[in-house]
Order: sequence, then structure tokens, then C-alpha cells
Amino acid sequence: MIPSWTLALYILAALWRGVSMLRLADLKIPSHTIRGQPVRLECHYDLEGEALYSVKWYKDQHEFFRFIVADNPPAQVVNLTGVNVDLPNSSDNTVTLKSVDLTGSGVYRCEVSGEAPTFQTVGESAQMIVVDLPDSGGPQIEGTRPRYGIGDTVRINCTSSRSRPAAKLAWFINADPVSQMLAEEALLRHFPVIIDDDGLETSILGLEFKVRHKHFKKGDLKMKCLATIANLYWRSNEESVEGDRPQKAPVLESRETFSPGKREASSSVGRTGQHPSNPTTLASLHHLTVTITTLCSLIVSSAFASDLR
Ligand SMILES: *[C@@H]1O[C@H](CO)[C@@H](O)[C@H](O)[C@H]1NC(C)=O
Ligand SMILES: *[C@@H]1O[C@H](CO)[C@@H](O)[C@H](O)[C@H]1NC(C)=O
Ligand SMILES: *[C@@H]1O[C@H](CO)[C@@H](O)[C@H](O)[C@H]1NC(C)=O
Repeated sequence: MIPSWTLALYILAALWRGVSMLRLADLKIPSHTIRGQPVRLECHYDLEGEALYSVKWYKDQHEFFRFIVADNPPAQVVNLTGVNVDLPNSSDNTVTLKSVDLTGSGVYRCEVSGEAPTFQTVGESAQMIVVDLPDSGGPQIEGTRPRYGIGDTVRINCTSSRSRPAAKLAWFINADPVSQMLAEEALLRHFPVIIDDDGLETSILGLEFKVRHKHFKKGDLKMKCLATIANLYWRSNEESVEGDRPQKAPVLESRETFSPGKREASSSVGRTGQHPSNPTTLASLHHLTVTITTLCSLIVSSAFASDLR
């Protein structure tokens, strides 16, 4: 049986301790950061009446920076591969890393200690991932044909080259996310990530669907691929192909022929449709649309599909 006065004293002591408790107020570590850029890590604390003894920083449990009030100078770097401290820009609250490499990814920890007699220590950790952005130009779309008729099979790939981590890819048909479509509407083909010797990763996502009337409701059929990495990278490319549009003025039809070289050079600016140089193509395609039955369309599409293989 504990006497009530002991209990009261105990509670009082706990309260007093609570009031004078050294506390980590805010740890600011970016979850993702871009390779080659400086990074600022912040660790804010409330001494709550205590005197500061030290602030120490660790990456994956290895110390790389210490600020000890009693030392001269107080701020010191502890050598650690992959961590390059910018000493003049670091203090008890902030550590600046000059430029982070991929090896800079890891769990960072800030530990703050108070002076005697309590020597309280508080610490907190957070993960930081160093991102190597994909090759410039955004995700590349491969396999599109200049024109598609109703019943044709679109079978194309989107490739985001050499990043770390691998970019996440998503397909959109006329702005509708394919991930939300039924299997009979469109299929996503997931290919394994390709990892190069230097550790950089290439992701490929295939798209396969049969062209229907509804795809041309708003004119061109647009196929967009979006590549993202965390909240740092967000880039898309779009292929826009023409369907059967007999109402199109003939004047436009002779404007541009399809050139593979130009397609390769296409970038984030959505390409507008390719215009057929030959009016007969347009006429015959239109004819197909108007007269084709479901059965015929099936035959045509399987013919095109075997064409593609
Ligand atoms: C840290 O590394 C630098 C450069 O490699 C070297 O000059 C310095 O002496 C090292 N410091 C310690 C304490 O090991
Ligand atoms: C580091 O300090 C220098 C001056 O000492 C300043 O010009 C520079 O902007 C600082 N960099 C960062 C990332 O704080
Ligand atoms: C898509 O990429 C996969 C994997 O590299 C390949 O096997 C396939 O032939 C590609 N398809 C097209 C249409 O480029």
C-alpha cells in the first residue's frame, strides 16, 4: 500500500518533469530530394528551461554532424561517405548538405541532449530518398500509327528512361484514366522494370485497346502517358491520331505527311493529328466506318492486329 503523500509527491515530480521536459518541436527532412542539389535538414527544439548540451545528426545510425555547445568551434563534421556537410551553413538548428548523391538516401536522425544534471535526450528520425530524374523529354510513346479506323487495335508502349526510383506510369485515353476502365475497354501491359548497371531504372507500360466510335467523339483520338516520381516529377506526352472525319475540309488534308523522324522528336507538347496526304485514304476509311458491321470490324481488326505483330 503506497501512502497517499508518496503518490502526491510522485505526481508532482512527474508534473515538474513534464514541464521542464526538453522536446523536439519540429524535424524538417524532405521525403524526396533531387540528386546534385543542396538539402537543408532542420531540427527545432524547445529547451523548456534546460541548457543545451549537444545536437547530433545521424544517417542510418552513423553520426555525420555534431554541435556541442562546450566545444570550440561547436559545429563539427564527422566524416561519412555519401553525406557532404556544408559546415558554414550548418548550426544547432540546421544542417545543410552540399549536394546529395544517390547514396544520400536513408534514415536521418536528429538527437538533442540537455546539460547536467538531467542529460535528457530526445530524437526523431525521417526517411529521405534522393531521386535521379528520368532522361529529359518526358515519357516516350512508341508504336502508334498515324491513323486508326474503327475496329483497329492500338498496341503501344510508354517508356520512361533511366531514373531512380523508376517512374510510375499511367495511360489516359482522351483524358480518361485507363486504370479505371474495364478489361474489355482497354488493357494495361505491365513490363518488368529494366535496371542498368549504374542502378538507373527504366519503366515500360503497354496499352492495348480496340478503337471504337466513341473514341473519336471529340475529334482526334488522344493517348496520353503520364510519368511521375513522388511529388518531384510529373511529366506527360501525348499522341494524337486522326480517325475518320469526312467533314474535315480538304484544304487541311494535304498539309503534312507522316514522317517517322518528326515523331521521334515529339515532346511534351501534344502533337496534333497527322493529316493524310492522300484524299482517297480518307474516303475509303470513311466508307469503312459507315458501312462496316460488327462482324466486318472484327475481321478487319484481327487483320490489323496480325499486321502489327
Ligand atoms: C575527413 O575527410 C577529409 C577528406 O577526405 C579529410 O581531409 C579529413 O582529415 C577527415 N577527417 C576526419 C576527422 O577523419
Ligand atoms: C550557404 O552560405 C553562403 C554564404 O556563406 C550563401 O551564399 C549560400 O546561399 C548558403 N547556401 C545555403 C544552401 O544555405
Ligand atoms: C513494348 O515493350 C515490350 C517490352 O520491352 C516489348 O516486348 C514490346 O514489343 C513493345 N511493344 C511495342 C508496341 O513497342
